[in-house]
Amino acid sequence: MDLFSAILSLLSLYLLFLIISHFILPPPPPHGPKTHPVIGSLIPFYENRHRLLDWYTSLLASSPTQTFVIGRLGARRTVVTANPKNIEHILKTNFPNYPKGKPFTDILGDLLGRGIFNSDGDLWLAQRKLASHEFTARSLRDLLVSALDSEADGRLVPVLTSVCSERRAVDLQDLFRRFAFDVICNISLGTDPGFLDVSLPELPFVNAFDAASMVSARRGAEPVSAVWRVKRALGIGSERQLEEAVGSIHEYVNDIIKRRKEEINVKAAGEKEVGRNDLLSRLIAGGNSDEAIRDMVISFVMAGRDTSSAALTWFFWSVSCHPDVEAELLTEIMQVTRSKERRVDYESLREMKYLEACLCETMRLFPPVVWDSKHADNDDVLPDGTRVRKGDRVTYFPYGMGRMESIWGKDCMEFRPGRWMSVEEGEGKELLRVSPYKYPVFQAGPRVCLGKDMAFVQMKYVAAAVLSRFEIRRADQQSTPVLVPLLTAHMAGGLKVVLAERRI
Ligand code: HEM
Repeated sequence: MDLFSAILSLLSLYLLFLIISHFILPPPPPHGPKTHPVIGSLIPFYENRHRLLDWYTSLLASSPTQTFVIGRLGARRTVVTANPKNIEHILKTNFPNYPKGKPFTDILGDLLGRGIFNSDGDLWLAQRKLASHEFTARSLRDLLVSALDSEADGRLVPVLTSVCSERRAVDLQDLFRRFAFDVICNISLGTDPGFLDVSLPELPFVNAFDAASMVSARRGAEPVSAVWRVKRALGIGSERQLEEAVGSIHEYVNDIIKRRKEEINVKAAGEKEVGRNDLLSRLIAGGNSDEAIRDMVISFVMAGRDTSSAALTWFFWSVSCHPDVEAELLTEIMQVTRSKERRVDYESLREMKYLEACLCETMRLFPPVVWDSKHADNDDVLPDGTRVRKGDRVTYFPYGMGRMESIWGKDCMEFRPGRWMSVEEGEGKELLRVSPYKYPVFQAGPRVCLGKDMAFVQMKYVAAAVLSRFEIRRADQQSTPVLVPLLTAHMAGGLKVVLAERRI
């Protein structure tokens, strides 16, 4: 934090201190962090700020209903829950009372505008209806598979092959992020930024997206929101960087919209067949305004960019720690692809049930979105009796839920993909259906992730293509990686691996 932010934080805290000291704080809740008059749980929060995920998890585990309330000076009262009944109530039964809310949409508003990811109420519903229709189109699936074919076979595998022959270490997380960015741009915008192709010049759009996501994520982590709001009003520091990055993203996307419309008009005039299937072209064909289309496709890029790459990184790390799992995975991949001369296609991916179980197990322990918050429109009582006040932040916590003995049993900390299979041995393995309220990794209810199927196809494709060709060993066998919970959960420092050609 720079000096200006620090001074502003202190001033804001002091002001809030004066205001709140006039209130008599309600008695501390029976479970949850230590609370002091006026400052609430500021001290334990500060002490645990570097390990918030594990601190929250231990608080939830020791609460009889897996819910606690935290209030601290400078932040709104927050209900944190890992209780499946509460989560069903928030995400489905009383969904209208729990929008993302202004505190959230303000944070991402400059980058995402009023796109699907960052809107509530009727505005969200209209986009959701439109997008649900587009996401289920068969043509989008075909586009995804062809984007995966060219990105994996044409870029990822050649990069890994050269790394392997040169016996160099490579950061898989970095490669997967580049891969996922190229794929989501193909799907959403119908363009190929070539981020994974190091021989191509890097587009300013790519860096701008990175910078804008990073600054937006930091807004959310500021102790007091007044800090970024004042910096934004003055156009200084990180907020200036954000403004420039968003300008560059808008310029890039507006230009694509303009050119695509020209293409579509040419087609309408009967001069050329265009017939693109990407989301942008379909939104244009649907007659939406340029601004609405721009915000919507930026939301898709944002949603699909780092989530599947984070999951893939943790998948390869988990598998590299469990040779028995790797062997079973390989047997499945080889069995399914044998008749197709090791070619991965959509149908063969559907048959890879154990691979899907491994991905689910990875995301149980390392969910790409570790927590997600809503803001209560009105007072409410959750099914476990916790009182919610109008304006409270209500956070459901997939990271903690994946580590709850009450949900997953005594071996909840172990990586055991078999827990996802109805039959662990022999033929006829099927995936177990787990309630999305026990496993809200893709959220659940009316606002469930729209890209879930797409994400599984992508992750399975990459996992099968890489595992069938290379043996992967961590360059650093000793250390346990640290999860960084920004917008998506990355591995601090990346995942450095060395590769050997797999001989079967
Ligand atoms: C492993 C990969 C993924 C995970 C774990 C994941 C998880 C999530 C979660 C937790 C949300 C709710 C976020 C919130 O409301 O704040 C969400 C929303 C969304 N996701 Fe995904 N996602 C993944 C991949 C994708 C992909 C590849 C796309 C493709 C574009 C996508 C598109 C969306 C969209 C459009 C929404 C907003 C839905 C709405 O608000 O109605 N996701 N995702």
